Amino acid sequence: MAVKPIRLFGDPVLRTPARPVTTYDKELRRLVQDLTDTMMAAPGAGLAAPQLGIGLRVFVFHVDGETDHLVNPDLDLTEEIQEGSESCLSLPGVVAETPRAYGVVAKGWNMYGDPVTVEGTRLKARAIQHETDHLDGVLFIDRLDTPQRREAIRAIRQAEWFGQDQVEVRASPHPVSDRWR
Ligand code: NI
Repeated sequence: MAVKPIRLFGDPVLRTPARPVTTYDKELRRLVQDLTDTMMAAPGAGLAAPQLGIGLRVFVFHVDGETDHLVNPDLDLTEEIQEGSESCLSLPGVVAETPRAYGVVAKGWNMYGDPVTVEGTRLKARAIQHETDHLDGVLFIDRLDTPQRREAIRAIRQAEWFGQDQVEVRASPHPVSDRWR
């Protein structure tokens, strides 16, 4: 059991695109275990490696009693959109209605290097999209419309955890490329 500190908004690692995993070794399996332990302790519906300060394309999720992980994910999204509220362990207390694809087929690898496909709709699809965004340095507030994002940024500025000495709050430096944006 290894629960690690979760990096908070303002930490540059959360805005840095993660590198693909190339080595499926004991270190990777320990990372998946640390991610899982930390997510379950939080508790949260998902956690991506950059949130533990590790710039690798790995995430875990826990939705509807199912716990799993995915390495180097590649997503295929449905045209259909879902609405629903979303939050993030790296932005405690910030919640917003966030548009996402209704369903997803995620192809990737497990921690042993076997190819896997993870499919889901609704919450599971939302979690997979949210965590994959983390691997691209994208946060859910980047998916909001302008008034919602302003509201989220106000909440961040007022949050106890957000340090006064931190850099200005701004939207993602990385392209948010989705058909409904
Ligand atoms: Ni998150």
